[in-house]
Amino acid sequence: MNPVKVGLLGLGTVGGGTLNVLVKNASEIARRAGREILVTHAAAREYRAEGLLGLDKVKLTDDAFEVVDNPDVDIVVELIGGYSPARELVMKAIDNGKHVVTANKALIALHGNEIFAAAHEKGVTVAFEAAVAGGIPIIKALREGLAANHIEWIAGIINGTGNFILTEMKDKGRDFADVLAEAQALGYAEADPTFDVEGIDAAHKLTILASLAFGIPLQFDKCYTEGISRIEPQDVTYAEQFGYNIKHLGITRRTDAGIELRVHPTLIPARRLIANVDGVMNAVLVKGDAVGPTLYYGAGAGSLPTASAVVADIIDVTRTLTTDPENRVPHLAFQPGELSDQSVASMDDVETAYYLRMTAVDKPGVVAAVAGILADAGISIEAMQQKQPPEGETEVPLVMLTHRVRERQMNQAIAKIEALDAIRPGVTRIRVERLK
Ligand code: HSE
Repeated sequence: MNPVKVGLLGLGTVGGGTLNVLVKNASEIARRAGREILVTHAAAREYRAEGLLGLDKVKLTDDAFEVVDNPDVDIVVELIGGYSPARELVMKAIDNGKHVVTANKALIALHGNEIFAAAHEKGVTVAFEAAVAGGIPIIKALREGLAANHIEWIAGIINGTGNFILTEMKDKGRDFADVLAEAQALGYAEADPTFDVEGIDAAHKLTILASLAFGIPLQFDKCYTEGISRIEPQDVTYAEQFGYNIKHLGITRRTDAGIELRVHPTLIPARRLIANVDGVMNAVLVKGDAVGPTLYYGAGAGSLPTASAVVADIIDVTRTLTTDPENRVPHLAFQPGELSDQSVASMDDVETAYYLRMTAVDKPGVVAAVAGILADAGISIEAMQQKQPPEGETEVPLVMLTHRVRERQMNQAIAKIEALDAIRPGVTRIRVERLK
C-alpha cells in the first residue's frame, strides 16, 4: 500500500516533536497503522532545523495554504495554534477533502461545531486528541473506552503551567512571575500566558470534555472561568492545615439545574490521588455510572508528550482512510444528530462548599456577627480558625470552611459580611470539592 502523506502546519515545539516521533518510531508506527506514514510537506515561517529528524525529505514552504491545497497531502496536521489563520486553514483542508489532525483547543472549543459540521458534510475526520491534556489519551477514553457509561462528572487539572505554578508556590514558596517565566522557557505556557493563569486554556479544554461526556454542542462562551492569580501563599498554607490542597480544576457535572461548566481554584482533600498531581502534569478524573471513578494521568504539555497524542491521531486517521464515514467514531462521541440541548447551568445555581478568608478587627462580637450572617443565609460552618494577632496589631485573619450551599446564597452572604465595619473589604472565597 502507498505511504500516507502528511503535511505539517507548524514546526515549533509540537510540530518538531511530531516530525521526530514519526521519523524515530516509523517502523513500529507502520506496523500499527498498516501503512507507512511520511511527513512529505511542512509549512513554517520560522523554525530551528537543529534536532529535527528527516527534514531533508520534507518539502518546506512558508505558506501554509500551499500545504493545505497540495493534492499530494492526505492528512493536514495543524500545529500553528490560535484562531486565525488556523480556522481558515482547517476549513480549507476540509473543503479540499483532506483529513485533519489538530492540537488546537482554542479552535475546537470556539469553532468546533462549525468545523465538525463541515467535516461531516465532506466525509472527512478532524481528530483532536492533543487538544486536551497533552499526551493523556482522554478523548479516546471518553469517546470509546467509556462509551457504555452515563458520565456523571469530570474534574481535571488540565493546564500544566497553572499546576506547575501552584506546585512551586506550595513546595518552594517561589514567586509567581518567576515560575511562569520558567514554564514559558520550557515551552509549556501559551503564547499569551494569561490564557494559562486566568483559566482560559483550561476552559477551552473543559468545553471539549463536556461535549464529549454529555453529547452537547461546544459552548465555550458559557464556561465560568476564574484564574489562580489571586491565590496567596497564606491560602495554600491554611488549606493544608484544613487537610486540603489547592488545585486549578476544570469541573463539569450533570445537575437538575443544567450542566455545570466551570474552571476555578478549588480546595480538594489532600488524600485524593488528584490532589497529589504536581508540576506540569495533568490528570482527569471521570465518574461514569457503570465504571465508577477513573483517573487519567500524564504530561499535559511539552513537545514529545503532545506529539504522542498527535501521532496517535494520525495513526487513527490512517486506519480509517478506507472506512465508510458513517462508521467512524463521531467527532463529539455522540452521533451528530443525537446531540442534546441540555442547557449549561448558571454559576448562581452551582452548589459547592467554600473556604472563606477575611481580615477582621480583633474585638468582641465580630465572629458572632459573621457567623450570624452565614446562619441567616442557611450556611453551615464546618471549621473555623482565628489566629492570634501579631504583637501590636489589631486585625486578625479569620478563616473558615462551610458546608455546601448555592453560589447565589454565598454571594449574598459575602456582600453582607464585607459591609460589616469590623471586616476589611475583599473576602477571599475558594470553592471546595470533595470529589467523592
Ligand atoms: N499551556 C498549556 C498548558 C499547554 O500549560 O497546559 C498545553 O495545552
